[in-house]
Amino acid sequence: MIDISTTIGSLRLKNPTILASGIMDEDAGSMLRMVACGAGAVVTKSIGMQPREGYTNPTVIELDYGLLNAMGLPNPGIDLYGEEIKELRTTKVPIIGSIYAADVDEFVTLAKKMQHLGAHAIELNVSCPHAKHYGLEVGCDPDLVQEIVTTVKTQISLPVFVKISPNLMNLVEIAQIIENAGADAIVAINTIKAMKIDLEATRPILANKTGGYSGKGIKPIGVRCVYDIAQAVDIPIIGVGGVTTGEDAIEYFMAGASAVQIGTAVYYRGPEVFRSICEEIRTWMKNHGYTTINQLTGAACQ
Ligand code: DHB
Repeated sequence: MIDISTTIGSLRLKNPTILASGIMDEDAGSMLRMVACGAGAVVTKSIGMQPREGYTNPTVIELDYGLLNAMGLPNPGIDLYGEEIKELRTTKVPIIGSIYAADVDEFVTLAKKMQHLGAHAIELNVSCPHAKHYGLEVGCDPDLVQEIVTTVKTQISLPVFVKISPNLMNLVEIAQIIENAGADAIVAINTIKAMKIDLEATRPILANKTGGYSGKGIKPIGVRCVYDIAQAVDIPIIGVGGVTTGEDAIEYFMAGASAVQIGTAVYYRGPEVFRSICEEIRTWMKNHGYTTINQLTGAACQ
């Protein structure tokens, strides 16, 4: 009997596939559709205090091995988006509220609002690779990351996950700081800073010039980051970056992940990707004699 349920601290997931932040999560309807297609949990769009328009187009382009995007954190702000979360609460799977902010006070306010709205966990986005004052600009500062995580943890009772960037030179050090500050899980990785130039126009294609690269091309980078973090921390790790098939998920589990997030693969394989990946995970486990995800987590780390 194969059991693909998993736990991230106190959070129980019926399967290890989670909708990643930033895709099909603009509103309750799109997230409910991903749940209907088998997602074991959903992460909301990254939400801030105030509405943000985001960058002008082009904001996303397809490359050979994935997508390059710089949306610019477009979102309606926590108060308006709160209506979507309230509607989403009809679902049976955990809702993970992704928030971004420039300082500790804003992170605390957003986390409290997410808790009040009924989210089951919080994902702190300290890894967006291109938004001025936000994301990676916060996540590369060890003291600031420590203060944010410590303070948010004292102010809310929900599990707190922290999503970190592969662009960090001090990735493992930051992961340890996050664990010591009391976080419940680490989410690795976010997109990788990248650029595509239009030869005929002689300039970068994205309006923001640089963006974040996601999809198949970044999977080896994500797997390496999860593996390195797994050697250094005891809290659960959620693997993300290029998971497109069940075997990609298994690779992340073996590197140390307890669950995976899926984003770009929704673009390539459609919303049914969640159910398909779960089936592929089950088949692989059956063929290789595994019965639980726990047996796979960190199996390559001995
Ligand atoms: C955006 C991109 C990210 O990688 C992220 O973590 C958050 C937001 C964006 O462009 O909107």
